[in-house]
Amino acid sequence: MCGIVGYIGRQDALPILIEGLKHLEYRGYDSAGVAILGKDLQIQKSQGHIAALEAKLVQMDGTTGLAHTRWATHGRPSDLNAHPFTDCSGAMAIVHNGIIENFQALKEDLLAKGHTFVSETDTETLVHLFEEHYKGDLAEAVRAGLKKVVGSYAVAVIHRDHPGMLVAARNENPLVVGVSADGEGVMASDVTPLLDFTHEFTFLEDGDLVVLREGEFQLMDLDGEPVERPVHVVDWNLEDAQKGGFEHFMLKEIFEQPQAILDSMMGRIVEEDLTALAPPDVDKIKIIACGTSYHAGLIGKYILESLAGLDTTVEMASEYRYSNLAKESALVVAITQSGETIDTISAVREAKRRGTSTLAITNVVGSTITREADQTIYTRAGPEIGVAATKTFITQLIAIYLLAFALGAKRRTIGAEHLRVLREELRRLPSQVQQVLNNRDLIKGVAEPIHEAHDVYFIGRNINYPSALEGALKLKEISYIHAEGYPAGEMKHGPIALVGEDTPIIAIVVDDPVRPKMLSNIMEVSARDAPVFAVGLEDDVELAKLVDVVIPVPRTNPIFSPVVVLVSLQLLAYFVAHMRKCSIDKPRNLAKSVTVE
Ligand code: G6P
Repeated sequence: MCGIVGYIGRQDALPILIEGLKHLEYRGYDSAGVAILGKDLQIQKSQGHIAALEAKLVQMDGTTGLAHTRWATHGRPSDLNAHPFTDCSGAMAIVHNGIIENFQALKEDLLAKGHTFVSETDTETLVHLFEEHYKGDLAEAVRAGLKKVVGSYAVAVIHRDHPGMLVAARNENPLVVGVSADGEGVMASDVTPLLDFTHEFTFLEDGDLVVLREGEFQLMDLDGEPVERPVHVVDWNLEDAQKGGFEHFMLKEIFEQPQAILDSMMGRIVEEDLTALAPPDVDKIKIIACGTSYHAGLIGKYILESLAGLDTTVEMASEYRYSNLAKESALVVAITQSGETIDTISAVREAKRRGTSTLAITNVVGSTITREADQTIYTRAGPEIGVAATKTFITQLIAIYLLAFALGAKRRTIGAEHLRVLREELRRLPSQVQQVLNNRDLIKGVAEPIHEAHDVYFIGRNINYPSALEGALKLKEISYIHAEGYPAGEMKHGPIALVGEDTPIIAIVVDDPVRPKMLSNIMEVSARDAPVFAVGLEDDVELAKLVDVVIPVPRTNPIFSPVVVLVSLQLLAYFVAHMRKCSIDKPRNLAKSVTVE
């Protein structure tokens, strides 16, 4: 996820673009850059926050320009990897948000044609591709280039020979254009930087290309055929706009999950060989992590054991580092969304001291963990502002599925046909998560009776036992209700003594071999008068008879069920916290990145 702003008008473009970027900093903040078209094409860029760019900016004159704030996916944050990029002739500048899946193949082809590259990014391929197709018509070059691209993009281009013109296109990444009352043409990743110019916007759709000039814009498809899109009047204030109209960042991030899953899978289901990340002789895995990432690890244990036949243990990073193991023989997989959690980083150092290889799963390119671990898988969730982890957690699971597929194929624990089916099912997850999100009103209804509880128990079995732990953690983090997750079979060994009419139970029941046992455990707590709410399959008639309400989730292979279950439980926690008027994005005493032991 990155932020793009473009401007064409009569005013000095530089301060407008920098101001615009500041409104988009929530979309990415590891580097920033700006290109201005004046007498010549001028570019300045810098690693770090927009303030770092601003501090070293020298004036660039011109009334047309593009700017970008980056959230790295390909290539670490650095001055060289920051956008905009130029072609070999230095005539064209582009900024991009998204992932070019086939960039390696395109790059090799372009290198063979004599293009030279300066960065590690996928984006730089685009500008050379457009240069290759440029014969004097910028829009035509962009159209022709994009036809060769597989992947997602919002991309914007300016060219020295086309003053007062900006060409942009969209596929799976947002882009909005508008024209101010004074005729200034503006565009951005979302409406926030544009609200000072206009409140009337046109949102590009997938496959759309726009040619923006002062006072007008033309929309077309990649064949150059005109397309029409409606004009929307957006009356949000700035804060509403940054949250995309959602009341909190957490809710917005929960709703971004179909896209985040898609981005995390892109180019990796078949194309990229993740087995290279694990040493060839790996036969044991130890996952180390904290908080929500630890729960991703616990779910990961089931995934790696059942798909890759790997003996997997999971330890809290803060405990691992003080354990007495002298030599580590397992591959250590460290999961951390921020990449900066000191307990996890120290545990990785300790694992290396104990003589093993380490693999990090993180969302932040270039974060400390990526320098400590031998290898890294990035989750590509984009920046997460809400302190409670949602999309970073779900994409950690996606990374683990992909790793398990790769290792399972290599170790021959998954046959070719089974793998094909699993990949198909993984591809369905974004739309299945969308189905869960469409249940938001029903889930809000379930939050009503829960929001006054003092204690809530989440129960599940097998792969959904850790889902119960994570459901409980989400609820306690943001609603401050005491909540515990339990393996359903363990309730009778103690916790059931606490169960009664004031203790709502959230039971996770999917169509797997432990379902009959889950139904029995539900009867046990119902017999103690506990209200029971289930997350379960829509067509599970038997379950519906046993519980007060079922939050329906789509049928998936049980191994993927934690994804749909936990998106439901994130929403439940959110609505409960909302009803309790809690500070949802910044819960008390919690921090997004914990750099103390
Ligand atoms: C903090 C956050 C949690 C997070 C944990 C681990 O406690 O509030 O949401 O799960 O750190 O963070 P990491 O960045 O290592 O995943």
